[in-house]
Amino acid sequence: MPTTVQPIDLGAHWMPFTPNRDFKAEPKLVARAEGMYYWTPDGKKVLDGSSGLFTSAAGHCRKEIAEAVHRQLLELDYTPSFLRGHPKAFQLAEKVAGLLPAGINRVFFVNSGSEAVDTAMKMCLAYHRARGEGQRTLFVSRERAYHGVNFGGVALSGMVKNRQAFGFGLPPVAHMRQTWTPEQRFTKGQPEQGVGLAEDLQRIINLYGADTIAAVFVEPIAGSTGVLVPPKGYLERLRKLCDQHGILLVFDEVICGFGRTGKPFGAQSFNVTPDIVTMAKAITNGAQPMGAVAARQSIYDTMMETAPEGTVEFFHGYTFSAHPAACAAGLAALDIYERERLFERGAQMSAYFLDSLFELADLPVVTDIRGYGMLAGIDIAPGAKPGARGHEIQKRLFDAGLHVKTTGDAAIIAPALIAESAHIDELCEKLRGVLKGY
Ligand SMILES: Cc1ncc(COP(=O)(O)O)c(C=O)c1O
Repeated sequence: MPTTVQPIDLGAHWMPFTPNRDFKAEPKLVARAEGMYYWTPDGKKVLDGSSGLFTSAAGHCRKEIAEAVHRQLLELDYTPSFLRGHPKAFQLAEKVAGLLPAGINRVFFVNSGSEAVDTAMKMCLAYHRARGEGQRTLFVSRERAYHGVNFGGVALSGMVKNRQAFGFGLPPVAHMRQTWTPEQRFTKGQPEQGVGLAEDLQRIINLYGADTIAAVFVEPIAGSTGVLVPPKGYLERLRKLCDQHGILLVFDEVICGFGRTGKPFGAQSFNVTPDIVTMAKAITNGAQPMGAVAARQSIYDTMMETAPEGTVEFFHGYTFSAHPAACAAGLAALDIYERERLFERGAQMSAYFLDSLFELADLPVVTDIRGYGMLAGIDIAPGAKPGARGHEIQKRLFDAGLHVKTTGDAAIIAPALIAESAHIDELCEKLRGVLKGY
């Protein structure tokens, strides 16, 4: 399809998580997408190495999803989800529950990963309060975690730049250490070293008292901060400590969910069942904004049974919770995942993907590669200032026809689960072509 290049004024749009002045001086515009590729307004083809932003697991512009959204908007464009419901919200909740470990089957819809995280935090507080343990108000998370940008998620996150400007009025969080250690360098899959880092939770329990802690939030694989795969035994140990002390375990699966780790969720890949799962991104294949929080039925039941009859049990929700178009997109996306067996497909492609990427280890600028499933991180030796080289590299990669997400000096690679080996080859060639110049 030819795309016409129209001059556009870049002034008014204040872009998120972007050095605006740098972008506007050297814009990287995307005008069209299909399958594994983007196209720039002047028609240049760009391989998508990060599934958009870990969103588009089934590839871009899936007709089935677009048509489902179109039909939905003509049939029922909007209804509140407060005191009203529409069939697709219930159908999608059922479908999502069917992908999760048994027992995690009550699904609350939101519009993004950040909303999912803050919703889950509120759910934890409200649940403890309902069962007479309202003193549990402290959260535990990790350094180098990313849990979105709302105030709760910022407090949980362990990234200095995301916190620094926003003061100290954040919800109380104690941070465990992150799980990457230098001994883990160039590990494919779960590292052997680092299980002892889970004892940080025991230290926090010893310091604050178990009965002050509401929940532990972790990403099964810390995604946005560079793909930190959990050491063997680490998540199991967190689960055990949480069980011993009545603390809820929340897996933030906003990136890991929907096949990224080779199973529907990281919980199944690592065989550790949390109490609550947050998700977003690929729930609609990125075609509509949507997130969700799935809770154990026992959490839901406690909330139902302790609230007076006929009253709202959880004082929380968004105007666009369970938006009909998002639900239609979600149902269509999950249909594609199932019909095309994309989670299995990702699991099968993982070895080729990781083996190919690990061949980049010979490049002097590459200081580490990690990965699991269809998710990998490449550390680049920093330049003059931390993050400057990573930023420069993502621009050069785009110019060379490859889109990848970078955080600081790490590139985060996550091709769509429809990727063929030829796409992986192209991805690695383009990475090599740019990285060898450093
Ligand atoms: C683990 C995790 N949680 C939460 C979020 C926030 O999601 P959103 O950008 O949709 O608000 C992200 C985004 O990358 C994420 O990776």
